[in-house]
Amino acid sequence: MAKITKLDDIVSLCRRRGFIFQSSEIYGGLASCYDYGPLGVELKNNVKRAWWKSVVQMRDDVVGLDCSILMHPLVWKASGHADKFADLIAECKKCNTRSRVDHLQNHAGEHTEHVPVETAMAEAGNLADKVCPNCGTVGKFTEPMPFKLMFETQMGANADDSMTLYLRPETAQGIFANFRNVLDTTRVKIPFGIAQIGKSFRNEVTTKAFIFRTREFEQAEIEFFCEPGTDEQWYEHWKETRFEWYTNLGIKKENLRFRNHDPDELAHYAKACADVEYKFPFGSGDWQELEGVANRTDYDLRRHQRGMRTLNSWYENNGDLSKIDLKEEAEDFYKGPLSYFDEQAKKRYIPYVIEPSAGIDRSALAFLVDAYDEEQVRGETRNLLRFHPDLAPVKAAVFPLVKKDGMPEIARNIYDQLKKYFNCFYDQKGAVGRRYRRQDEAGTPFCITVDGQTREDNTVTIRERDSMEQIRVSTDKLLNYIREKLEV
Ligand code: GAP
Repeated sequence: MAKITKLDDIVSLCRRRGFIFQSSEIYGGLASCYDYGPLGVELKNNVKRAWWKSVVQMRDDVVGLDCSILMHPLVWKASGHADKFADLIAECKKCNTRSRVDHLQNHAGEHTEHVPVETAMAEAGNLADKVCPNCGTVGKFTEPMPFKLMFETQMGANADDSMTLYLRPETAQGIFANFRNVLDTTRVKIPFGIAQIGKSFRNEVTTKAFIFRTREFEQAEIEFFCEPGTDEQWYEHWKETRFEWYTNLGIKKENLRFRNHDPDELAHYAKACADVEYKFPFGSGDWQELEGVANRTDYDLRRHQRGMRTLNSWYENNGDLSKIDLKEEAEDFYKGPLSYFDEQAKKRYIPYVIEPSAGIDRSALAFLVDAYDEEQVRGETRNLLRFHPDLAPVKAAVFPLVKKDGMPEIARNIYDQLKKYFNCFYDQKGAVGRRYRRQDEAGTPFCITVDGQTREDNTVTIRERDSMEQIRVSTDKLLNYIREKLEV
């Protein structure tokens, strides 16, 4: 098994094979933004499809949602992002590069989430022995300062009635904001979850790790609502379920692990949190977060129930979020719209939430890196991507052995039939061995070749990517044979 050992190798593999390109490359590129090419978009769509199938389609207790990226600014006041979603940074006095303080301190955390800025500043510690990652200078940093992570934008055409909005930094809040809508319009009962896939935006300080940490990325999040007291059991359930999702789709067990957050690392509202980590072959060769599973208690619904009561004050203050305080919880708080009434037990409560929150781009990168392999075949190096069939961008390639004797027509006909069911690729250029290699590099599980024998007995060759074994299958059984193997 060959492994990719450097980030540069991953970047060049993705570029060469049309998986991922730098955004706006023809203009010199836009830092930390990336475009998915023809194979990349198929891979990414397959990752999203596999996630959706596993957490929505195959379950009776999770429903889907697709919220808008722009939301009312009070959402971000209530969630805590407007005041606290910042990283603490320090600037190197020699080269002016800004670094995240937690990264200088080698803390693995994803970001400073909902930690009051004053607390983070107080805990920042001494940077006297810290090294600038850009120029190597030791201990020449400015005092730590907060750096806000949300992108701002303006909505409205007229200067006097335009409003400052934020590009959402997570999809989760759209789910909380729709909790009541989903309850009122579907037949869900607690325990149940709401799942969403969508773009999120963060003005990250540290990027430079390809699509691992970007300023525009896609998240796949579930908010699973349950009765307080059952939360610990659901937390364990989701940890196990999400871990298995990665291994079932081919991530090698030795490259995946859980890291439970230490109590002092937990966001103040979280009762427990664990990261699913993948052993990415870059940086310090360290384990890096793919997904977080958190027990968020009733924090978010409570905050939004309080936030909803600040609407008048928001108007009175011309939308200035800094002037708005979330009201204390009034006596009738538990009767509020974000509470839940359990008909059977005749009791009302604010549900607890278990949140498995995954990054689609990071998962796609991990699946790609894990699938990469090189082997020696008859004195030549064969490069291949051993994707799980559900993730392979192309499921089958169809070739005529040569461009004559009616073979292209038969092959095209087979291709036209198969592509109704799954992604296929037709190729008649060059030696068949070269065509096999190209498909190995794209991770295509099956190659189908029409040859001289096809016209005699209606059979074709099917070559399997990983073993390179070839068998003959009659054309009328071809579709079922491949669908059975692909389980589609
Ligand atoms: N709602 C909880 C939440 O957003 P998070 O740990 O900040 O939690 C969840 O993000 C996941 O989103 C991460 O585990 C990671 O996979 C992905 N993610 C976060 N920031 C990212 C970034 N800048 N670039 C790519 N993926 C990111």
